[in-house]
This record gives sequence, C-alpha cells and structure tokens, in this order.
Amino acid sequence: MQLFLDTASIDDVRAAARYGVISGVTTNPSLLAREGGVSYRQRIQEIAAVIDGPISAECISRTADELVAEARELASWHPNVVVKIPIDAEGLEAIHRCSREGIRVNVTLIFSANQALLAALAGAAYLSPFVGRLDDVGHDGMELIRQCVEIVETHGLKARVLAASLRHPLHVTQAALAGAHIATIPPSLLPQMLKHPLTDVGIERFLDDARKAGLLPG
Ligand code: E4P
Repeated sequence: MQLFLDTASIDDVRAAARYGVISGVTTNPSLLAREGGVSYRQRIQEIAAVIDGPISAECISRTADELVAEARELASWHPNVVVKIPIDAEGLEAIHRCSREGIRVNVTLIFSANQALLAALAGAAYLSPFVGRLDDVGHDGMELIRQCVEIVETHGLKARVLAASLRHPLHVTQAALAGAHIATIPPSLLPQMLKHPLTDVGIERFLDDARKAGLLPG
C-alpha cells in the first residue's frame, strides 16, 4: 500500500517528504480554504516540485461539460495532476469523458460499493471511499474499503482503491489489511503512526546502558 498526504499545506508536504514514505498528495477545496487565499494552481505546482507522484486537484463545477472543461484546465497545471471529480450523474459522465481523453480521475465522495463500481467502469484511475465520514454517521467505513477492494480485484478493474477520510492510526492499519492500494492521511497521522511509548522507553534504556558500558560519557 502507498501513502498519500491529504493536505494543501506546502509546509506539511515538505515536512513529510523527508521521510520518503509519501508517494502522492490529495487536496480538496476545504483543505485549500485553510491556506489563506493562495492560488490553487500555484499550490499544486509547489507540491508537485516536492513530491514526484500523483497530486489530486478537485473540480468544483456541477455539470458534465463544465467538469470536463475544468478537468482539462487542472490537468494542464502539471503532468502529475490527477483530477478529483465527485460521484453523481454529471460527475459520472465527466469521469468517462475525461478518462477517454487520458485525464486521470480520482473519484471522490464515494459512500457505497455501487458508486465505486460505476466510477471504476467509467474509467476512474482512483476510487476514494470516505471512511471517517461514514463512521461519523454510524456506518462501518472500513467495510466499504473491503468491498471496493474485493470488487476491483474480483473483476480485474484497473481503478486503485484510495482509502480517504482516515482519522486515526488504526484506520491506516485496517486499510492496509483490507488491501487498499493507497491510503491518504492527514499530516497529523504520520507522527501518530510512528510513535510508540515502548520505543521511547527502549531508546532511553539503551542510552543508559551505553553510558554504563562507557560507550557514552556518564
Ligand atoms: C481525500 O481525498 C479527502 O478529501 C479527505 O480524505 C476527506 O477527509 P475528511 O472527511 O476528514 O474531510
């Protein structure tokens, strides 16, 4: 499974990039709104200069014709741009038309297996089921990841399952175990995944013993 970073913050992208574990970035209008009026195009290009992988930029148009025109514009910003399109009737047509043109589409706001199936059949490159938002309304978000992976694998579909709306480290583990091809994580999840109190205790103990062994000054 690959990890993408779910952010529009260039500082967060730079900070995470140094570990070499981030293969792409996903953004959306809500994440961009936190960035104090920066141009979307400029921010995507800044991110693409740091991470050499798929960078998702989201369309906000509401008709298929407008979505396709917007997708062409977003895709022109950088060769690594993947266009995010929400799954509804207009979106589905746009996914099909964009994919036929060679524009890679990340289908966003997926909340059911059938939405995922339709998106994959229309030519989506990535399917983004939203785990946390399903959990928020009392559903089992991770079950949707399992279903999407099974559908894609069983039928040999080319779409990759991108587990989105992940909120805590257990979500990432469960997404990996469910066979998600990618998990996109908020920057705050990276240190949470890394940290374990027994590692910290273990390092301190080794340092103490290294002092006793004369390997370090006492
Ligand atoms: C990713 O592509 C999504 O935009 C993101 O994971 C949504 O997360 P949220 O439900 O925490 O806003």
